[in-house]
Amino acid sequence: MDWLFHMTELLRTTHLVEFSLWVSDWPFALWLQSHFYAIPAFQTIHILSIAVLFGSTLLLNFRVLGINGTDQNLEAAYRRYRPWMWSALLVLVASGVILLISEPVRNMVNSVFWIKMTLLLIAVVGSLWFQRSLRGRLDTWDVSPSGHASLRTGAIFLTILWCLVIAGGRWIAYAPN
Ligand code: HEM
Repeated sequence: MDWLFHMTELLRTTHLVEFSLWVSDWPFALWLQSHFYAIPAFQTIHILSIAVLFGSTLLLNFRVLGINGTDQNLEAAYRRYRPWMWSALLVLVASGVILLISEPVRNMVNSVFWIKMTLLLIAVVGSLWFQRSLRGRLDTWDVSPSGHASLRTGAIFLTILWCLVIAGGRWIAYAPN
């Protein structure tokens, strides 16, 4: 994992160092650091939102793959799970930014954090594309359930991608530095 170490070294040569040091002095950052319950509380919100985002994504993707929920049509599953997923993502972004502010240097000058952000961007763009394609096929889906191979592949790919984002989040604490 030398490359992770080198990536962190590279981050140390950027303006991220000054920027993160500047953020550390924000009153809100100082407030977060001086209240012992604050960081664990936002971490808990972050983790609960992961459960909602991943749970709703998994249930929709399993429906696409025909693994569960087949007693309801795809449109019902799509309308049920989609709002949960995007609302949870909003809470994740908000709580994630707060966690970032709580320990700016540790998180911003951290290779794994940026890998997680890149994977997250791919997962969000991929999910938008996936759901858009799904919307266009809701009418015909249950008529020809064996088709739509690209969307089934997309469901598997996105499930793996979200797992990698979750692993990346947990791994931030163990990035080589
Ligand atoms: C812009 C969005 C996000 C930002 C800025 C962000 C930022 C952070 C930060 C700073 C931490 C704390 C790391 C540490 O102190 O060790 C964290 C933890 C974590 N994040 Fe995120 N995050 C975001 C979105 C997400 C998403 C969408 C997921 C998963 C679907 C996720 C999964 C995790 C996990 C699993 C942890 C570890 C929690 C723990 O063990 O306490 N994050 N995130």
